[in-house]
Amino acid sequence: MHTIIETIKSIAFEIDQAIKTEDLGYSNSENSSGEDQLKLDVQSDLIIEKAFASVAVVKNLVSEEKEGVLELHAEGKYTICYDPLDGSSLVDVNLSVGSIFGIYEGVLKAQNLVASAYVVYGPRVELVIAQKSQKPMLYRVLNNAFKQIAEITMEKKGKLNAPGGTQQHWEKHHKILIDDLFAQGYRLRYSGGMVPDLHQIMLKGGGLFSYPGTSDKPEGKLRQLFEVIPFAFIYEQAGGEAIDDKGIRLMELVPKHPHDTSPCFFGSVYEIDVMKKAYGIEA
Ligand code: F6P
Repeated sequence: MHTIIETIKSIAFEIDQAIKTEDLGYSNSENSSGEDQLKLDVQSDLIIEKAFASVAVVKNLVSEEKEGVLELHAEGKYTICYDPLDGSSLVDVNLSVGSIFGIYEGVLKAQNLVASAYVVYGPRVELVIAQKSQKPMLYRVLNNAFKQIAEITMEKKGKLNAPGGTQQHWEKHHKILIDDLFAQGYRLRYSGGMVPDLHQIMLKGGGLFSYPGTSDKPEGKLRQLFEVIPFAFIYEQAGGEAIDDKGIRLMELVPKHPHDTSPCFFGSVYEIDVMKKAYGIEA
């Protein structure tokens, strides 16, 4: 695991450099979710593939930018599922973006996730790593190296509300939930980048990030293996909660396909409780 973590740190430097210096245009291809790939998406994917090619414990890679599973080392132990540059269209307008990594051992399902990490490329580069039975750890680049900053613990109740998806397509009970939180004094914080949005909620104590099932996307938008499960693990390790629209822990998800999505709700204990009431889920 140490080698994987060190590799993620070097990947973060390379992707950060690419964001700062490379062409922002579109490539001529689409990813497997049908989204146009930016040159930066493709390049970040290649940076990660190249970096893990020399890490023998990595058996397979599954990327948001690739259709199938890429075998690297037949004798390896871990599969790394990653989104190389989540929210990449925000680079254009100079907002923060991120990379997400889920490290699985065995069959690709939430219960087999052994560690996860994400990198935020913003005014500063930050990295959060979570491993079993440990609080997530925040690292920040200072003088060209990652320095360990602090363990992350969420409060029981926060102040921020990050509602994803198009309001026009929200279910009635979802709108009631979002309005209720605002009526309680919650403040809107939504950039359209999952990594900085979830990072902000976690570091500022708590709140709710939601990406529900909508009339146009009943299974939501965010992908289980590279987005939902890695963050669910980090939120739970920080003392928060992460569930789907039936109240089932996202850490129980069993994807049928590498690109399956799921409605998802990440928050502190209080807001998840409010969500359950609005959705008619038994406590
Ligand atoms: O998965 C891509 C992504 O950009 C996430 O980072 C983000 O949370 C979400 O899509 C935003 O989607 P929407 O614009 O539909 O709220």
